[in-house]
This record gives sequence, C-alpha cells and structure tokens, in this order.
Amino acid sequence: MSDKRISDSMEQALNDQMNNEAAQAQAYLALGVWADSNNYSGIADFFYKHSEEERQHMFKFLEYIQTRGGEAKISAIPAPRDNPVDLESCIEDVWQHELDNSKKIYALVDKAFDERDWPTFNFLQWFVKEQIEEEALIDELRDKFALASESKDNNANFYSLDRDMANAPQEAELPREKNL
Ligand SMILES: [Fe+2]
Ligand SMILES: [Fe+2]
Repeated sequence: MSDKRISDSMEQALNDQMNNEAAQAQAYLALGVWADSNNYSGIADFFYKHSEEERQHMFKFLEYIQTRGGEAKISAIPAPRDNPVDLESCIEDVWQHELDNSKKIYALVDKAFDERDWPTFNFLQWFVKEQIEEEALIDELRDKFALASESKDNNANFYSLDRDMANAPQEAELPREKNL
C-alpha cells in the first residue's frame, strides 16, 4: 500500500501491542470475576474499570495504525492465566503484568526512535505517561494490601481495603452493563 506512513515492521509491532492491550483487558476482566467470586466486590469493580481502560488502550493503537495508513489486524487473544490462589498473589501478578507492559511500550519507543518515526514516537509518549500512572495505581494497591495484612484484625482491614479500591481514581467507568 503506497500511502502507508509506517514501516511494515512498525505496523506489525503496533499490531502486536494492540493485541497485548486486548489480552490485558481480558486478563483484568477475569481477575474481576475472580475477585467478585471471592467477595471482594470493591476490588472486582477496580479490575472491571481497569479492563475498560485496557480496552481503550487497544482502541488507541487500532486508530493510530489506521490513521497512518496501516491495517489494524484483529486476531485471537490468549486466554487469561489461571485464577490467583489468593489476593496477595493476585496483586503481585498484576504488578508484574504492568511492569512487563511498560517494558513493551519502551521497546516500541526504542523502535520508533531507531526508525526516526517521529509521529509514532510522539503517539507513544501518551502510553509512557499512562504506564507511570498505572504503575503508581497498582503500587498503591500493593501498599494498601501490605498495611491491611499487618494487623491481627485482618477481616476489617481487608473490608476497608476492598471499599477503598472501588473508589480508586481511574479514567474508565464501570461497563454500563454492570450498573443495570
Ligand atoms: Fe494498557
Ligand atoms: Fe495496564
């Protein structure tokens, strides 16, 4: 296609990340169901909202690829991982997930720089900033979990942790269907 303004390999790399974001949306959706099934309804809402955010990220890549004359290729997304064994491993898993995703974004930034593809470099800065926020958000969840775990009266602490997480600031709202 002659009007394509990104390289073939950049098109592929952006498509890969678009699908990563879609996979993350699914992963957070699955964690939301797991949390809800374990009576952490606040944490479930936190994950459901986060799933919506990841879906918005997926769509940003989709639109960018199309805007640059490339083609967004919607492909199968891998199934989410097995359910976590407990809340602590759930939170650590999410933390690792976000750190891994930041690395993937940085690799794309490196590629854009190497190719002197400044529009893509510029597009990716939004994601660099977003990952700073996401890491901070999940790190806060880790801190809250650590605090809640310290006391002997764990149940009350986990109750307030759960309530707090429902109100943690996120851009996306709950899917409309959840509020029906
Ligand atoms: Fe994302
Ligand atoms: Fe994320």
